[in-house]
Amino acid sequence: MFKKKVSKMLYGGDYNPEQWPREIWDEDMRLFDLAGVDIATLNVFSWALNQPDESTYNFDWLDEAMDLLHENGVHVCLGTSTAAHPAWMATKYPDVLTVDFEGRKRKFGRRHNSCPNSPTYRKYSQTMAQKLAERYKDHPALLLWHVNNEYGVRCYCENCEKSFRVWLKERYGTLEELNTAWYTRFWGHTFYEWDEIVLPNVLSEHLNLNNQDVTSFQGISLDYARFMSDSILDCYKLERDAIKGIIPDAVVTTNFQSNGTYKPLDYFKWAKELDVIALDSYPTNDMPMSHTAMRYDLMRGLKDGDPYLLMESCPTQLNWKPQNALKRPGINKLWSYQVISRGADSIMYFQLRRSVGAFEKFHGALIDHAGHENTRVFRECAQLGNELKEMGDTILGATVETKAAILFDWENWWAIEYSSGPTIELKYLNEIQKYYDAFYHQNIQVDFIGVDSDLSKYDVVVAPVLYMVKEGYAKKLEDFVSNGGTFITTYFSGIVNESDLVTLGGYPGELRKLLGIWVEEIDALFPEQKNKIVMKETIGELSGTFECGILCELLYSEGAEIIGDYGSGFYQGMPVITRNTFGNGEAWYVASSPEHDFLKKLISHVTNQKGIKPLLKTPENVEVSCRKKDGKQFLFILNHNDVPVTIYVGNETHQDLLNKKTVSGEIEISPKDVMILEYQFAKLLTGEPTRVV
Ligand code: GLA
Ligand code: ZN
Repeated sequence: MFKKKVSKMLYGGDYNPEQWPREIWDEDMRLFDLAGVDIATLNVFSWALNQPDESTYNFDWLDEAMDLLHENGVHVCLGTSTAAHPAWMATKYPDVLTVDFEGRKRKFGRRHNSCPNSPTYRKYSQTMAQKLAERYKDHPALLLWHVNNEYGVRCYCENCEKSFRVWLKERYGTLEELNTAWYTRFWGHTFYEWDEIVLPNVLSEHLNLNNQDVTSFQGISLDYARFMSDSILDCYKLERDAIKGIIPDAVVTTNFQSNGTYKPLDYFKWAKELDVIALDSYPTNDMPMSHTAMRYDLMRGLKDGDPYLLMESCPTQLNWKPQNALKRPGINKLWSYQVISRGADSIMYFQLRRSVGAFEKFHGALIDHAGHENTRVFRECAQLGNELKEMGDTILGATVETKAAILFDWENWWAIEYSSGPTIELKYLNEIQKYYDAFYHQNIQVDFIGVDSDLSKYDVVVAPVLYMVKEGYAKKLEDFVSNGGTFITTYFSGIVNESDLVTLGGYPGELRKLLGIWVEEIDALFPEQKNKIVMKETIGELSGTFECGILCELLYSEGAEIIGDYGSGFYQGMPVITRNTFGNGEAWYVASSPEHDFLKKLISHVTNQKGIKPLLKTPENVEVSCRKKDGKQFLFILNHNDVPVTIYVGNETHQDLLNKKTVSGEIEISPKDVMILEYQFAKLLTGEPTRVV
């Protein structure tokens, strides 16, 4: 991945020496060395410092910082500084300022504050990237590029409106096509001129209904979401191309936010433009570990299994939550190995030295306000840094392999949640998480795939709430199942095309043949209301009854075998779970949102049928993931419990990479501790029993 050879997991993070007197920098180098830091991200928010006016550029501080880091053996991840424009730019060129969802023109302030369609912003950000590339192209410290920072702000200004019309012309060609796609005969919206089209916000199509942002024209809002994701991506591409124009083999990335599930940006589409995925992850103490695991697996899926970078995390407390708890002893290590276990090749923090003033002065950092190494956080971080150093390249670049996948699609997410009815309780991420949890809690490894991904390398594909079926996708699924694959989808699938127009003739539209069913009606349940799945027979561990809720679809079999019926209500006795044989494979339909136990047993059954086994059977809250490299498997066992657990790891001996001890048979793992056991390929245990102490 890197031009310069990297021979270990990168360890470091955001470093802002420009906020500190020069003498502190030398102390930083001493502390970095103690902590095993070998990468520093520089220049993330220094635009105003680097460019004091329109024609002056001054990189003296950056030259010095780059040189110093190099002398001290620290790689540089170079920011382009374009995520916060200078005040002079906003004063002189107000087009860089955004207009918000309420239609208010913003003044200079905050960060992530530039309109993505501002000609001024585009010109100066591109120029900045080019100047940096020219200046540092041969700098020995330069390892990779960090363009902008956590891209994502949406804008509703006139420049964006004009660009939206251009984007629409490209997409639809004619207004007739657009009027059809948007269904504009509804509520008298027929457009006769492109200039009649305005951006969808609270001044136009959106309203606040029951504290929810609701659009009255799904097609318009959906296209705006696509357009904004594309506009912002164009800004990234302009900077990237400016860099690559000068350094063709530069490694260029930008950091993804919200632990990887940031709704406004289609990260599968973005991933194609990045050389490596970079993630910012800030889980809080109350976030279930399966939620972080899900996002880490999603990041691995964005570039088809490639390892990625953890670009930002926090060694201890955050500052932007209502209450910011300290990370308890051992937690930073445990969570760092969690992201490594699922595909990350770096651990990086925001930030290396805690700032003195402004918004983030209470945000945790490697070096605290105390300014020395004698702190709990520094000691823990240094231990981790030195562990990673000792581990060398053992796990670097290792892959995660599985034959099971979950489909994730940003456009589907937008469309489901823009839809008015049948319920506001349906949240795409929640449903994805439920199916993911069914894999996670059994230590069955699963990949995330996008709609462009190749299905042929999988045996089991799960597509929760596949509401929007894109052109050709039904055929792709049919081929997958005909060739022997097992497919699972759910209620509220096959409903619309890419324009959010309903596929007529009965739900689930284009998936009807594959699933062998017809859905006539969709019932929405109140939040506490439940129905039941009554199994007609025992399949694997599936038997008896299970709860279900959110939506209940009333369906008829058109050839599918009925596996379970509803247990109550006027549709009691109608099918809720079906399985259709299609070619050499089978396609399951789950017509409501079932409780965890049902999904766990369903996933266990279908994966087991295909020989996809749990990595290890462990007590509750003991997470297992496996990375493979050079004929070896590294089994990460993470004990998230507050009590020790005993796990059976097989009778062969295995080396624990962390404490260097050799283990076999029943082993104890301390509370919040982690082990990385090396197995030969053939010897990995699958589903052996275990005991909790
Ligand atoms: C984000 C930003 C960083 C910093 C952290 C604080 O991830 O990218 O600049 O503000 O949040 O948690
Ligand atoms: Zn704008």
